[in-house]
Amino acid sequence: MGEHDGPMIRRAGARDVADVAGIYLAAFPDSLRDLGLEGIRPVAVRDIMAVCLDAEPEGFLVADVDGRPAGYVICASDAGRIRRAGLGHLPAILWRWVRGRYAIGLRAALRLAREKLMSWRHPDLPGADCPARFVSLAVHPRGQGHGLGRALFEAALDYLRAKGHTRIRLEVRPHNAAARRIYETNGFRSVGQVHDTRGPWEVMMLELGSSNG
Ligand SMILES: CC(C)(COP(=O)(O)OP(=O)(O)OC[C@H]1O[C@@H](n2cnc3c(N)ncnc32)[C@H](O)[C@@H]1OP(=O)(O)O)[C@@H](O)C(=O)NCCC(=O)NCCS
Repeated sequence: MGEHDGPMIRRAGARDVADVAGIYLAAFPDSLRDLGLEGIRPVAVRDIMAVCLDAEPEGFLVADVDGRPAGYVICASDAGRIRRAGLGHLPAILWRWVRGRYAIGLRAALRLAREKLMSWRHPDLPGADCPARFVSLAVHPRGQGHGLGRALFEAALDYLRAKGHTRIRLEVRPHNAAARRIYETNGFRSVGQVHDTRGPWEVMMLELGSSNG
């Protein structure tokens, strides 16, 4: 895909949320299966992506190939903004869930909630207090291996650095070699692990000197 058109990285808008949800569903099949969410409706992912867009639109980027998003990255200069935006969207999300619009059963919903709580509850871990974070990065499987993931990540990193952040945190599955390569070559180092119901996440931090050069 896109041999003639190079990736164009730009800020996402509301019209991109459906494409981004499609990329997420195609890029994380194992996670969805492990969580019992194979049948999840795209609208559920769209609603979560809309929360992220609402929280910090400047930190939500897409890479276009042949005029359509083929990958996305979400970062937050203040992770608290995502929680606050999530609370704002919560009534509508709960209402849709209760009406069965997401096709997420109670069991899967509880597991999801437990998983989130497990990964958040690590106040002693280095970086737990770090507001700047990477939230999600994915490239559609059709577009992987052509530099899109790296280009997206580095564009988002530029955004966070331009905002003056010298400490940035992310989490990655230890076996995710392609993602780790991108993070490590950009200066991120492992500072420990957190666990959820599916195993460990490597917590990685970028810690720059006090100057933002
Ligand atoms: C991780 C992901 C975003 C990378 O995007 P991509 O466009 O395929 O990656 P790129 O083409 O930019 O390549 C990134 C680097 O990984 C390297 N790489 C790719 N596969 C690799 C592997 N199996 N082992 C080691 N390195 C690998 C590439 O050589 C490249 O390194 P280089 O730029 O130094 O040559 C993409 O694979 C993806 O969406 N995966 C599923 C979702 C996911 O895991 N997201 C990250 C969650 S933390």
